[in-house]
Amino acid sequence: MTPPETIFPTDLFEEGRRAMPLQPGAMLLGGFASPGADALLADLHRVAEVAPFRKMVTPGGWQMSVAMTNCGSLGWMTDRTGYRYDALDPWTGNPWPEMPETFRCLAERAAEVAGYARFDPDSCLMNRYEPGSRLSLHQDRNERDFDAPIVSVSLGLAATFLWGGATRSGKPMRVRLFHGDVVVWGGPARLTFHGVDTLRGSVSLAGEFRYNLTFRAAR
Ligand code: SIN
Ligand code: FE2
Repeated sequence: MTPPETIFPTDLFEEGRRAMPLQPGAMLLGGFASPGADALLADLHRVAEVAPFRKMVTPGGWQMSVAMTNCGSLGWMTDRTGYRYDALDPWTGNPWPEMPETFRCLAERAAEVAGYARFDPDSCLMNRYEPGSRLSLHQDRNERDFDAPIVSVSLGLAATFLWGGATRSGKPMRVRLFHGDVVVWGGPARLTFHGVDTLRGSVSLAGEFRYNLTFRAAR
């Protein structure tokens, strides 16, 4: 097997890659995960065999249209009692599966090239979108401190990422995210509102789902 540290690029400006700042502290790394995408998907499916994707319920009682699971020592979850991180998967009663090396390696490299050295994620939220799924504008703010960035990896079907501002009001920027794209945000952008527009798309060569891996230092 190819060791994960040789899969992901150290040179961001190799042919075929594009880096685009979204705002100070936030960067889109186009295609950054592409060389390792097959390995990432294989590991994603392995994690999901142990901790299956499920549609969680919000504190308000709504079932989310995005199916979620986690790996790493902490997993993000929501139920009627609130949003939180937990070391155990409530569905199985077991700890979340370990974070695969491919995941960790990609997240650390992406953070580094975006300007966040020494990112040490302990949590990976895995989102699965089917056509019709959406994620409304929100901030990632259940983590204990906001010093570490967020690293967000897109796989499978393309989606429109909504990149808002420091408040919920105003029209978000619409950014198309494709298989292999990575978005990193931290520092002054750490609490930016973001979301995903209703997934349109049909079964294609890219599969029937969009997957997103969101890496965080949650502890
Ligand atoms: C998230 O904010 O948790 C996911 C964002 C995405 O799916 O791109
Ligand atoms: Fe988020």
